[in-house]
Amino acid sequence: MIDLRKIREQFPITEKKVYLAHASRGPIPKCGAEAIQKYLYSAMHSGLTLVDAGVPEDGGRALFAELVMAEKEEVAFVENTSVGLNIAAGVVDPYKGSNIVTTDYEYSSVIYPFLRREPGVKVRFVENAEGRVLLSDIDEAVDDETVAVVVSHVHWLNGFRHDLRALAEIAHEHGAYLIVDGIQSAGVMEIDVRRAGIDFLAAGCYKWLLSPPGSGYLYVRKELIDDCDPPLTGWRSTSGVKDRNQLTLRFPDDARRFEVGAPAYISLVAATEAMKLLLDAGKNFIEKRVLMLTGRLGDSLREMGLKVTTPEEASFRSGILNFQVHHPQRVVDALKSKGIFPCGSRPDWAKCSPIFHSTIRVAPHFYNSVEEIDAFTEGVRKAIASKE
Ligand SMILES: Cc1ncc(COP(=O)(O)O)c(C=O)c1O
Repeated sequence: MIDLRKIREQFPITEKKVYLAHASRGPIPKCGAEAIQKYLYSAMHSGLTLVDAGVPEDGGRALFAELVMAEKEEVAFVENTSVGLNIAAGVVDPYKGSNIVTTDYEYSSVIYPFLRREPGVKVRFVENAEGRVLLSDIDEAVDDETVAVVVSHVHWLNGFRHDLRALAEIAHEHGAYLIVDGIQSAGVMEIDVRRAGIDFLAAGCYKWLLSPPGSGYLYVRKELIDDCDPPLTGWRSTSGVKDRNQLTLRFPDDARRFEVGAPAYISLVAATEAMKLLLDAGKNFIEKRVLMLTGRLGDSLREMGLKVTTPEEASFRSGILNFQVHHPQRVVDALKSKGIFPCGSRPDWAKCSPIFHSTIRVAPHFYNSVEEIDAFTEGVRKAIASKE
């Protein structure tokens, strides 16, 4: 039986705020902060012996591997999701006349590494249908010239969650790779890279993995690694190769070949502790709990007559919920004045898709309570009523 009170003790932020903004940035739990303090202490006093500073030898690879059901040899650390996606784009190397299939409302980092290859390569944008993407539309867009299907597992604004296994089947049927941006799902939604058939998955740690910016992981399916020519190389690309020198370049046969230079150790120590915390709580527990919280939130907002742009079905949902109100900034400000912090609202979200015009994004994690969700809903109700 999970003791939520004990888990919440790891999150001092709960003493002062109702924090519901994990799709923007995750708060650092006590265990992560302590790891950073240890690192800093060591940096001040002993000049940074990495082991003394608490830096795990494998940089947390094994823990991330456990989180996404990979083998640790399939995991490299990268600075962030964008670098991971660029490495994947560099490896799949689309040829002239080929195409990449993605959706029309992705985060820019998912698209840019491929857009820059145009006009030789065509980026095909599958239109979202009111905030969800239909498998039949992806199926129609993919053909034998498709090099990769590239998506975010969970959409950054409304939390729509793809059926990755179905996407992989479509991609693989045509010899294409499935490249996944996992920053909005790793640490909160269960991921089984092998069962889902994912070829590349990149995720930064500063959101749902509750760490400072600077650390992230790239998974590459092991069957692909040997044939991968890393687009970036440096001293770390040859780690583990005994005869490392500057005259010859030999890559190891695992994902470390994608690493380049010194990682953000200070962030990795926190990521490692946060991943232990998440794994201790249990991946299935976290997913179920967060789906319960966003489900409850969506139901209450719909009951108030508000339009929710996030699908109602649990299988398409995640930790993010997005809904429409008149004057969203006024509602957000009213919530903040009561100590309730959603991700907020931005006018430029409508550029991603018109359905996000005048919306607020909320993103609870597993340690949030039902009372906090209800306080949020009540805060929205009052903010709307106070205008009328
Ligand atoms: C879906 C998605 N991908 C990528 C990013 C950027 O990630 P990073 O800073 O780790 O490159 C974000 C940030 O909000 C995001 O929501």
